[in-house]
Amino acid sequence: MTGKIVILTGAGISAESGLGTFRDAGGLWTQYPPEDVATPEGFHRNPDLVHEFYNARRANAAAAQPNPAHHALARLERDHPGEVVILTQNVDALHERAGSHNVLHMHGTLAGALCSACGARWDAPETMRTADPCPACGAPATRPDVVWFGEVPYFMDAIWDHLATADLFAAIGTSGEVYPAAAFVQEAARVGAHTIEINLAPSATVSDFAETCFGPASETVPQWVAAELARHG
Ligand code: APR
Repeated sequence: MTGKIVILTGAGISAESGLGTFRDAGGLWTQYPPEDVATPEGFHRNPDLVHEFYNARRANAAAAQPNPAHHALARLERDHPGEVVILTQNVDALHERAGSHNVLHMHGTLAGALCSACGARWDAPETMRTADPCPACGAPATRPDVVWFGEVPYFMDAIWDHLATADLFAAIGTSGEVYPAAAFVQEAARVGAHTIEINLAPSATVSDFAETCFGPASETVPQWVAAELARHG
């Protein structure tokens, strides 16, 4: 099948690059209550805490290296005869640094900054501070360009189009706890795509997948990519 491959990735694909996941033991949501650091209300209550949280994640992400799973997906995009698109929930840039180009960051990126007053976007500095003026309107209203709980994920029109034309849908390193991403598998299956879950452990939506593959992404993803590429000779 030289068809279109649509891949959803979550924090688990970056776990072996040293970046924390959210819901595993010791995960980010066990260190910081998400309502304090990943909601508009939390930002309004305490912007300093939110900037501290994202400054730390921005520094960790910049210091991290892509792992074999990221590199395998970049190889798949390069060598697969059909289109390969990554829909990522992650805000790190490890897919791009491994060489993937066709990547949609539905939860935004640590590399982006946004003005909550005028909507301007620019490249985030390493350290963001509450008092920083927006480079466009001057208001002290800058925030990470990351999608918080209760906000609308980015690129959803394009994402629904990709899912409606998928021949193969793979979810890698995601717990299936957050919507709309957790429903992508059902949309792909509805149009007849084959679906596979590649994860360390069964996700909340594992029963929606036609196929599963469990183990650390740095091992399972290169094996899966090699098998996919071998299928086309
Ligand atoms: N290899 C493969 N999978 C792994 C690995 C690994 N080495 N380590 C952990 N995982 C899996 C876990 O089994 C789990 O299913 O990665 C998943 C991580 O789940 P979450 O921590 O919930 O992360 P994610 O699914 O990306 O969260 C989705 O929730 O909080 C929001 O915006 C945030 O984008 C995030 C979204």
